Amino acid sequence: MARHNRGEDGPEIPHLGLLKMLQVLSFLLVFVAGIILGLLASTHVNSLFNSQRDLFFTSNIAVTTTSPCNCKSCDDESKVDCLSMKTFLHPHNLTHGMSDRELFWRASLVPKKEEYPFVRVPKVAFMFLTRGPLPLLPLWERFFKGHGKYFSIYVHTDPGYVLNVSSGSPFYGRQIPSKHVEWGSVLLLDAERRLLANALLEFSNERFILLSESCIPVYNFKTVYNYLVHSGHGFVEAYDDPSRYGRGRYNRRMLPYIWVRQWRKGSQWFEMQRALAAYVVSDTKYHKLFKKYCTPACYPDEHFLPTFINMFHGSMNSNRTVTWVDWSLGGPHPATYSAVNITEGLIQSIRMNQTLCSYNSGVTPICHLFARKFDASALQPLLNLTSRVMEF
Ligand SMILES: *[C@@H]1O[C@H](CO)[C@@H](O)[C@H](O)[C@H]1NC(C)=O
Ligand SMILES: *[C@@H]1O[C@H](CO)[C@@H](O)[C@H](O)[C@H]1NC(C)=O
Ligand SMILES: *[C@@H]1O[C@H](CO)[C@@H](O)[C@H](O)[C@H]1NC(C)=O
Ligand SMILES: *[C@@H]1O[C@H](CO)[C@@H](O)[C@H](O)[C@H]1NC(C)=O
Ligand SMILES: *[C@@H]1O[C@H](CO)[C@@H](O)[C@H](O)[C@H]1NC(C)=O
Ligand SMILES: *[C@@H]1O[C@H](CO)[C@@H](O)[C@H](O)[C@H]1NC(C)=O
Repeated sequence: MARHNRGEDGPEIPHLGLLKMLQVLSFLLVFVAGIILGLLASTHVNSLFNSQRDLFFTSNIAVTTTSPCNCKSCDDESKVDCLSMKTFLHPHNLTHGMSDRELFWRASLVPKKEEYPFVRVPKVAFMFLTRGPLPLLPLWERFFKGHGKYFSIYVHTDPGYVLNVSSGSPFYGRQIPSKHVEWGSVLLLDAERRLLANALLEFSNERFILLSESCIPVYNFKTVYNYLVHSGHGFVEAYDDPSRYGRGRYNRRMLPYIWVRQWRKGSQWFEMQRALAAYVVSDTKYHKLFKKYCTPACYPDEHFLPTFINMFHGSMNSNRTVTWVDWSLGGPHPATYSAVNITEGLIQSIRMNQTLCSYNSGVTPICHLFARKFDASALQPLLNLTSRVMEF
């Protein structure tokens, strides 16, 4: 995977250092020139101060023009408060020039202080991982309608893909800076962590759910929100599978850091709370081990989170998933539902099926909030069922 120029790769660093040094040198040159000019132009101490400050301001802008301006609207001519609380806490434009290394570091920052200096309404971050189109978009738009204060959307696509949505859609302007993904490789895990990291930059995001283009909600927004926000646990599926599809994918070269008894498997489609998300983007050591030793037929997206969380943060996890999927047909891929398969009975059975699931210290009849996999043809029949069955 070395040919992919990922942020975590070492060789970029000396190059960056050189750039930084050049920047500092040119800055110093401008600065010294400024002092000399200032001295020549005026003998008055006050005007000397002023010209220095102006030069400082302009040269500072010149240094930063290479990265997109995110802490202001670019057409705004007025002086900019780049350290404003608003842009720090709630980045409104997801475009940025950070490398993964820089992004993950920023996303790992956790406030020490318990009280917030603002009214914090917890939000759910809906993170869509897709190659491109979102065929079930109208269903999701209906689901989100009227709940703008309580969610944020993030979309990771193939680089270069432009999601074509109207400016009134909650998906408008929600694509994050994305990189190439190879299904089954560690690049998929990297895309998941990139989504988490971008979503962590918004300090109001409290829960983080990973979804694909074939996922649907089976409850309305209010139910989903309350279920997630009031849960004391994350929903990252984690189980010990003794077969060759579980323990069989463990690589002994991960010793002494990971033992086979710690090895877990689970669905890629996770949901987790903020604290857990910060731990996930903060890890480097275990990511490196998986990158090196979890290669097909080992899949990092099925083993990294379950194993890492089991090893260090097990008490924060419910070990089950809130995303329903149908494995009943057997084979390596779950069943895909098309228009002909969509019935009220199907959706009802996903919503409740007589089984109770653990929730906080008790149980709940609601085990799943989302379901997959549904293809584009399922959209119309699903839209037909929302008000009667899903209650939105
Ligand atoms: C985006 O969608 C609109 C409306 O569906 C369509 O008219 C337009 O051609 C699309 N633009 C691109 C670049 O696909
Ligand atoms: C975000 O910023 C980028 C670069 O500064 C700009 O091109 C883009 O239009 C902005 N997006 C939105 C939704 O404002
Ligand atoms: C999930 O598994 C961990 C061990 O990884 C355990 O500590 C935790 O209690 C389990 N969670 C629940 C809700 O049973
Ligand atoms: C969907 O319906 C078709 C036609 O009845 C059937 O062959 C297929 O197995 C169904 N798919 C699922 C996942 O139930
Ligand atoms: C109901 O869902 C649970 C959890 O997914 C599953 O284990 C169980 O087999 C299902 N029961 C029926 C009757 O479909
Ligand atoms: C929508 O539901 C109605 C009533 O159940 C049904 O008659 C109609 O065919 C459905 N339309 C679609 C596109 O599924």
